Formats: sequence, structure tokens, C-alpha cells
Amino acid sequence: MSSHGDPIPMTSAACGPLSGTAQVPGDKSISHRSLILGALCVGETTISGLLEGQDVLDTAKAMRAFGAEVTNHGDGNWSVHGVGVGGFAEPDQVIDCGNSGTGVRLIMGVMATSPITATFTGDASLNKRPMARITDPLALFGTQSVGRSGGRLPMTLVGAAEPVPVRYTVPVPSAQVKSAVLFAGLNAPGETVVIEAEATRDHTERMLAGFGAEITTEVTEAGRVITLKGQPELTPQHIDVPRDPSSAAFPVCAALIVPGSDVLVPTIGLNPTRAGLFETLREMGADLTYENERSEGGEPVADLRARFSPNLKGIEVPAHRAASMIDEYPVLSVVASFASGKTHMPGVKELRVKESDRIDAMAVGLRAAGVTVEDGPDWWTVTALGHGNVAGGATCASHLDHRIAMAFLVMGMATNAPMSVDDGGPIATSFPIFETLMADLGARLSRT
Ligand code: S3P
Repeated sequence: MSSHGDPIPMTSAACGPLSGTAQVPGDKSISHRSLILGALCVGETTISGLLEGQDVLDTAKAMRAFGAEVTNHGDGNWSVHGVGVGGFAEPDQVIDCGNSGTGVRLIMGVMATSPITATFTGDASLNKRPMARITDPLALFGTQSVGRSGGRLPMTLVGAAEPVPVRYTVPVPSAQVKSAVLFAGLNAPGETVVIEAEATRDHTERMLAGFGAEITTEVTEAGRVITLKGQPELTPQHIDVPRDPSSAAFPVCAALIVPGSDVLVPTIGLNPTRAGLFETLREMGADLTYENERSEGGEPVADLRARFSPNLKGIEVPAHRAASMIDEYPVLSVVASFASGKTHMPGVKELRVKESDRIDAMAVGLRAAGVTVEDGPDWWTVTALGHGNVAGGATCASHLDHRIAMAFLVMGMATNAPMSVDDGGPIATSFPIFETLMADLGARLSRT
């Protein structure tokens, strides 16, 4: 089932060389944070290049429900008149975050230290996902929560009226957990400290600093120690959202496996906490180059050029790299099928609690397409068949997971028989122009 409406079955058939320029949409992580931080400033924050995927639209709607004025000026240009740190009003409706784990977890963090009560829900995928990883640290601030069994949505949070600052070591590598604690710390007096053993995406830290919060990161033997001074006055900003490396992954990987392809994907952020896939692909022998490397808005950026890569080889993907490419494993497993040898991916248990159990969803579909996959609780291994040898011909369940749907559609561009997904609807959560963008490059996608 699609998250918003009837399922949209889709099929992807082998195509000629992919060529041209792929202008992928704005970064999803930064888009959510732009709206949320805008809502925490008094005055007007302007945003250009906002991702207008359903996940982000649901966050925009939530910010309105908490009292911010959020306006869409068209073409990715938005403005937010915020209410200030601690200024959230109590929503009079349930907050529906749709498919978005990032949306709900970040917003729970922000409201947790205001004296208001809010109830959160989502679609069938989100309502299965673990929320105790957020409500446990929020309880340390004084926030109360009541949800369904297993700490799942729908869930009501009663914000702490007199929050205390917190020192918290994040038990799983998760930028969402780290960010929820930091956002909660904004309205607590004193210093909130978050310690993460493994570095995860650092957009929250960078953007909080950009909005004027006092925040420092110290790299120690225990990991990164992030210290935030509470109750700052945040200053409205203009945010130019960079294009999303996690969306760039799809045209890049498609170009690597479709013979004769040559695709340019401009202005992609190469923040080291996000660029693990590209490093991995290069280690596999991908013809993937960074052109016009530069810095934009304090972030390293390049135009990615991906060409068909006939000699891809399987590798051991280092476990320590997992956080920097956590959303990219589904499409990596597709590329790994067209390589030679085995690609072993350890240290990835977080994949089991994403929009779907991504190891399971991919393993079932890859096996149905003729690829050998072994998996355990926190690892999986794909044994390659090589270019021209991947049978395909499977119809795969996307499990309300945009990245599963896109990974299998990319796969179908190079398999011997077409690949289908039962529902391409969830693609609209993060990459609403996927179908037209890939078709413009030469892909043969159809709604079936
Ligand atoms: C995100 C963090 C990651 C990622 C998600 C976006 C974020 O989740 O999978 O798509 O914007 O903070 P986790 O923090 O659960 O790893």
C-alpha cells in the first residue's frame, strides 16, 4: 500500500545508455531541519531548494500546527516565521508525520521541553518503528510519553514544564536520536551534552551553529562529545538546501550498471558524514569522478560524473563507514549484483529498523531476481553475477519504503528481464521527480 493513496505498481525494463544531467532534489535531512529551526526563530527564515517530498511537507504541516507560519512561495522557495525557542503552541490536532522517522523524531525532540502535550502518528511503516530510542533520553529532561506496546506510535508526549539539561550517550548510531536530544536541550537551562561513539550525519550541529546557538564538538576517545548551551536566541537565516547525496545515489548507481552510460549529477554535498557510498563505489572500481570540487554554505560539494563501469568488484565495506551511507545500502546491494565476487556489508543492524527491514526487503527481491544473498542480524553478503548475468524478472514488495522501490527499479535497468515493484507510491516521500528524471536520462519505467 502506498502511504498516500492506492498502490502504484511500477516496472523498469533494460534500457540503452543513460546520459545527460540529473538535477536531483534538495537534501531531505537539511530540509526537515530548515523548517524546524526556522520555526524556532523569531523572525523570518527563508529557504530555497527545499525538498518538496511528502516527508518534508508533513514536517511543514507540523510546524504550522505548533504555531509557526510556513509559506510556500513556489519552486522550492519557502519562508518560516517562527515562534522562538520554547515558543511552541499546543497543537489542537494529532500530528501525522506520514512515513517520516526523521520528521517525527526531530519534532518530538523540539516539543519535549515545552509545557505542551502533543500526540503523534504516522503511516503503517512509521507506526511499526521504535520510538523508545527517542522517549528514553527525552524522559531524562522530564518529558512523559505514552505510546503503544513496544514504544510505538501513536504516542502522546507531555513536554517537561521545568526541563533539566541532560548528558546522554547515544546507544545506537543515529543522527535522529542525537538531534532529538540536542533539540530538546535547546529549551533546557545549562549545557546539554550528547556523546556519540560513531560519527553520524552532523547537519543538526552545523545548522544550530549557523542559527547562532553555542555548540561545540570535541573528538575524544569515547567519540564525539557535543555540547550545546541551552536557551539561546536563534537568529533567522537564509538556507540554500544542497542537493541530496542519498537521492544522487540512484542515477549514479544506474549509470554504473547500464552499459554505455555517462551521467552528470551536479552540486552534490560530499559532507564526510554522508558520502560513504561514493567512497565505497570507487573502491569497487566504479568510474565515478568528482568534478568542480568546491565549498558551498560551508559544505564540500562536487559535480558527480558516473560512467558505466565494466570491472566492478565486490569488497568488504568497512563497518565504521555504515553511518555515512546507511540509506544507500539497498542500491549498493544492486550494484554489488553486477560486480564480480562478494560484497560483504557488516555493522548494519540499523537497516533492520528503517522504513522497512531493508536487509530483508532487499534480500527477498534480489534472491527472486537470481542473486545469492546471505544475511545475519547485522550483516549481509551479496554474491555478484556480473554484468549481463542478472536474471531479474521479479516483482518485489516495497514495504512502504521509497529506497527499496527505487533500488529495484534501478536494478531493472540492467537485468535480463524487467523488475517490478508492487508500489512506487512511497518514492514521493523523498524523490518526487524520480520517474521523470530517470526517464529523461533514458530509463524505461512504466506504471503497470
Ligand atoms: C536521518 C538520519 C538517519 C537516516 C534518515 C535521515 C536524519 O536515520 O536513515 O534517512 O536526517 O537525521 P538514523 O538517525 O535513524 O540513522
